[in-house]
Amino acid sequence: MCGIIGYIGSKRPEKILIEGLKKLEYRGYDSAGIALYNKEVQIIKSIGKISNLEEKINNEKLIDSNIGIAHTRWATHGEPSEINAHPHRIGHITLVHNGIIENAKELKEKLQNKGVKFNTSTDTEVIAALINYYYKDNMEKAIEEAISELKGSYALAIINDQEDKLYAVRCESPLILGIGDNEYFITSDIGAILNYTNKYVLLGQNEIVTLTKDSYNIVKEDTKVFRKVEVSNLSLEDTTLNGYDHYMMKEINEEPVLVDNLIKKYINNLDSLPDLNKYKNIHIVGCGSAYYAGMIGKNLFEEDGIKIEIDVASEYRYRNIIYDKDTLVILISQSGETADTIAAMRKANDNNIDTLAIVNVQSSTIERECTYSILIEAGKEIAVATTKAFILQVLVLSLLSYKINPDNKYLEDIKKLPQQLKVLLDKTGYYKKLADSIYKHEDVFFIGRKVDYAISMEGSLKLKEVSYIHSDSYQAGELKHGTISLVKEGTIVFAIVTDDEIRDKTISNLEEVISRGAKPIYVGNADVDYENKIIIPKIHKKLQPLLAVPPLQMIAYYVALKRGCDIDKPKNLAKSVTVE
Ligand code: F6R
Repeated sequence: MCGIIGYIGSKRPEKILIEGLKKLEYRGYDSAGIALYNKEVQIIKSIGKISNLEEKINNEKLIDSNIGIAHTRWATHGEPSEINAHPHRIGHITLVHNGIIENAKELKEKLQNKGVKFNTSTDTEVIAALINYYYKDNMEKAIEEAISELKGSYALAIINDQEDKLYAVRCESPLILGIGDNEYFITSDIGAILNYTNKYVLLGQNEIVTLTKDSYNIVKEDTKVFRKVEVSNLSLEDTTLNGYDHYMMKEINEEPVLVDNLIKKYINNLDSLPDLNKYKNIHIVGCGSAYYAGMIGKNLFEEDGIKIEIDVASEYRYRNIIYDKDTLVILISQSGETADTIAAMRKANDNNIDTLAIVNVQSSTIERECTYSILIEAGKEIAVATTKAFILQVLVLSLLSYKINPDNKYLEDIKKLPQQLKVLLDKTGYYKKLADSIYKHEDVFFIGRKVDYAISMEGSLKLKEVSYIHSDSYQAGELKHGTISLVKEGTIVFAIVTDDEIRDKTISNLEEVISRGAKPIYVGNADVDYENKIIIPKIHKKLQPLLAVPPLQMIAYYVALKRGCDIDKPKNLAKSVTVE
């Protein structure tokens, strides 16, 4: 995971790098560091958030430089500590790294036998040592030789203390070259540099970039590479709080407009969506919330008569899957960079199976490598817990399902959706009141059947990841096969009941827990006598999840707020899970 940024130009880099790190903090936030270069290298590191690093930098006398690199970390090799924080320096080479080097141990032993001394338990220091080992007078050659020995993933920004240049290279981990006015940037994410430029170049695997203040050069195996300059569709507003206290709340409130935009884009233009009717089987694969969006999709497509298989990417990639030739694999991913989902996609691609990406980040690995792709157009999602991207993933799945099986009621109802969402999101007072009754609990359960079970999985994940309350979701009919023993006086049980056909069944299961002391919170489209209830408008079945999930996102937010949690950056997590 981790985020990296580098700068070369005529400005002082520290402000640009700190600003950039703050935008990259969603990628990891257990420690951070910066290196500035002007004939000498100055490294400053700190554990914890970027604000700690910023404070440290403000209290140091900095060298006067125009070249710098910086890093925010999500620890893989070695505990989060100042010594393990990047940048790492060996000999002439200082660098920051996003990724994992799988053969770090062997390389380290090899270099130790040649007399190299290491100071940290990171895999990154090994890369610095390797480049330094190969460096005689040609950095590009040294980088090329070093990376030829690396196994794993890396995005690197590199300084050599002999040269006024900045180098970069990537393999698997994302890295782009930002093109400013007489200045260049290296970053894991364009969002980090939007204050300065929206022009960028996508770097291919193992292409080595050399930057001076006024030029860039890309080579691969001694051959110059020419790459198109792209323009990002993200706006600066996407990366600011815009008056909200947290990105999570800002992003939930963007849902009505984003849903409206996507509906307008596709509803009269369904031809631009792939036709799923030609496939006999569909596999849906994703991780976390993206997988739960897929579970909703499974329910939609099954009703359309399509054979569906669904799995989390970390399992799918290692399973022995027997593919039928008329199979489509749908990969759902906000970032488009999730390591397991990428592996699942490549497995299908390697078997010559069509793949469809439902993805947010334009030009991400999954978007680029799938046979087809649909951008959900959520804009930048910064809160680590996904909200708006989840809703838009589900909307795309529902549009695909409508294309398979069109009907007029859907057309009527989809137009109402943005306004209905807006009204639901405005009921903040009620969500706060519910949060007040939840936040002191240690365990919360969610139940539902079929699509309502998928919704309850997402509701439960949202609550636990931002509020740290233990929460689990069960198929309503399964409770009495074991879990009901956990229900005691006052246990909170959310019941999701949007599917008419199984409403009575789920209500019966809810009654079973109520009679054992549970305190119910009902989320459904028919009014009931329970004290705590969120009544959502009744709408076409294929659209119902889009109204049931946002109130659960709101409740998770307010519970986390009451508990004083770091809502946008829950502990131990990172936004983009680029490791297995
Ligand atoms: C939960 C959450 C994660 C992601 C998962 C997949 O709120 O955000 O569960 O859904 O890590 O990430 P993407 O969608 O980027 O592949």
